Amino acid sequence: MKRILTGDRPTADRFHLGNYYGKLKNTLSLQDEYEVFIPIVDLHALTTHFDQTAKLAENIRGLMLDYLAVGLDPKKVTFFIQSSVPEVLELAFILGCLTPRSIIAKQPALKEKLDQGAQDTVGLFYYPVLMAADILLPKANLVPVGKDQKAHVEYAKDIAQKFNNLYGEVFPLPEPMIPPDIGTLPGTDGQNKMSKSLNNAIFLSDSSEEVEKKVMSMYTDPNRVSATTPGKVEGNPVFLYLDAFSNESEKDQINKYKNLYRAGQVGDIEVKKYLVKILNEFLDPIRVRRAEFEKQPELIDKILKEGTEKARIEAQKTLSEVKRVMKIDYFS
Ligand code: TRP
Repeated sequence: MKRILTGDRPTADRFHLGNYYGKLKNTLSLQDEYEVFIPIVDLHALTTHFDQTAKLAENIRGLMLDYLAVGLDPKKVTFFIQSSVPEVLELAFILGCLTPRSIIAKQPALKEKLDQGAQDTVGLFYYPVLMAADILLPKANLVPVGKDQKAHVEYAKDIAQKFNNLYGEVFPLPEPMIPPDIGTLPGTDGQNKMSKSLNNAIFLSDSSEEVEKKVMSMYTDPNRVSATTPGKVEGNPVFLYLDAFSNESEKDQINKYKNLYRAGQVGDIEVKKYLVKILNEFLDPIRVRRAEFEKQPELIDKILKEGTEKARIEAQKTLSEVKRVMKIDYFS
C-alpha cells in the first residue's frame, strides 16, 4: 500500500474551511487506498511560536478533534506527535548536510514568514529540511498540501533524489497533491487567504448561528450596489465557497444563481442564504462526530499514543537503512 503524509502545525486549536478545502479533503478521499500518516508538527510550530509553548497541548487536542470529526479514521490513519519521534531530527540534520544553503534561502514561505514578523532564527531557516524529513522518514509517496506548500514538497523530492543518487535507493520520490480549481480559499473578507489571525475564517467547529452570521456579512462583489447591478461571479468568495462545498446534486442550482447574479437578477442576500444552507449541511455530520469525540478525551490520548509508537517503528527502520547505505552504522 502506498503512503501519504501530511502534517499540521499546532499553532491554532481548530481548522477552518480553507484548511479543509486545501488538504483535509484530499487526505480524506485517500484514506481507503493509502496508508495515511499525520504528524502534528509541534517542532515546526516552534520555528515561529517558540514563546507560546504553553498552548501546544491544548492546540494538539483541538486539531485531533477536528481530524476525527471530519471523518479521518484512526484505523486507517496514523496520528502522531512529531517531537515524540525524535528520529526526524537525526534525518533532518543529515538531509541538511546535503542541501545548499541557497536553495533553502529562496523558499518563498521563508520570506513570507519574515515579512509577517517572524524572527529570523536558525530553526525557522531549517523549516523545509525538517519538513522533508517528516515526509521521507515514513517513505511517503504523496503529500496533500495547499498550493503555498508545493515548493517545500518539491524540495523534499529533490533532496530524496540527491540522497538516492549519492548513497543508494532508500526513498521513494514524494509528489505534492494540490486541490484543483480554485487553489486557495479566500477569507470571508475577500482577502486571498482564510486565516485565524486575520479574523476572516469560518471554522469547522462553528455553530450554525456563527456560520450564518459570518456568511451574511461576507465580502462579495464590491462594485455591486444593488440586486439589479450585474455582478461578478469569478473570484467572488460566496461563489467560490459554493463551488467548494456543494454536492453534485446542487450544481444546477448554483449555476442558476451564477447566471442570475451575472444578469443582476438575484440579490446577495438570497445567494448568501443558500450558502448558509450548503455550509450547514456540510458541517452537520462533522458537528455530530465532534460531539461524540469531545465526550472521550482519553480516547484521543490513546489514538495519539498508539500512532506515535507505530510511526516511531517506521522511523527507526528508515533511519537504520539511511545509516547503512551511508556506511555510518559503525558497529552493527
Ligand atoms: N509546512 C506545513 C504547513 O504549514 C506543515 C508540515 C510540516 C507538513 N511537515 C509537513 C505538511 C509534512 C505536509 C508534510 O502546512
